[in-house]
Amino acid sequence: MKNYTTNVFWGPKNHGDFIKGLQQCCDTLDPMGIFIGDNMFTFKRNLSFLDDGPFMASVNTNAGEEKEKAIIWRTAVLLWAARNGLRRKGDFVECGTYKGTSARILCDALDFAHCDRSFHLYDAFDLPPEMEYLRGPSHGPDLYPAVVKRFAHFPNVHIHKGIIPDIFVREGVPDVISFLHIDMNNAHAELSALEFLFDRVVDGGMIILDDYGWINNKDQKIAEDNFFIKKGLHVLEIPTGQGLCLK
Ligand SMILES: C[S@@+](CC[C@H](N)C(=O)[O-])C[C@H]1O[C@@H](n2cnc3c(N)ncnc32)[C@H](O)[C@@H]1O
Repeated sequence: MKNYTTNVFWGPKNHGDFIKGLQQCCDTLDPMGIFIGDNMFTFKRNLSFLDDGPFMASVNTNAGEEKEKAIIWRTAVLLWAARNGLRRKGDFVECGTYKGTSARILCDALDFAHCDRSFHLYDAFDLPPEMEYLRGPSHGPDLYPAVVKRFAHFPNVHIHKGIIPDIFVREGVPDVISFLHIDMNNAHAELSALEFLFDRVVDGGMIILDDYGWINNKDQKIAEDNFFIKKGLHVLEIPTGQGLCLK
């Protein structure tokens, strides 16, 4: 039986004490199906994604940073949604790509170069001053060319540099979408993406909201709930912190 443990948690006041406490909890358990990381602690779980060959090969190749490894359960949710997206007509869209790690994991696991559809990745990449608060260590002029290079072997992956929603108008969006991943850590951008793209999502298409369940992003959840309720849809908050919506 496999376990998957990391030290990646957001929020503990004393990280060292927190990890020590978790270790003490683990010592009281049968070491079976333990997952620790990304603000989750589970035990006696199947952790089925660890037995998914194409997924694990792709994670091991593409997730270099501790944080990227720790969010493996979220990435497994994305792959599940993307596999379901392949069963419908339509292209894939990601709003908020950063280094492209999640998208690249999906592309390798799905052998996307041989899929009969496109994947459109949108991000500002080099943040303007008013978006400075969203800056990660890799933002800047080098990020866009690095992401273009990362997907160079996927002729059906298109990378769009610009601010959402303006970039949608400037460079266009697919007419039909079967998989939509929204991960921008700010309510204004996420709502504008939903308003622009929702009608293009095919019935049965998958929408994944990365930040939906996180308390620090509660304003996003409130705005998104208001949006989806008007469409007669409900979002499911799952333990990874993501929100799932099936159109
Ligand atoms: C958390 S990162 C995305 C991580 C990526 N989805 C992954 O899983 O590897 C959030 C990204 O959203 C982008 N972003 C936020 N607001 C945006 C906007 N209005 N237009 C374009 N990009 C935006 C930021 O530049 C940042 O790279």
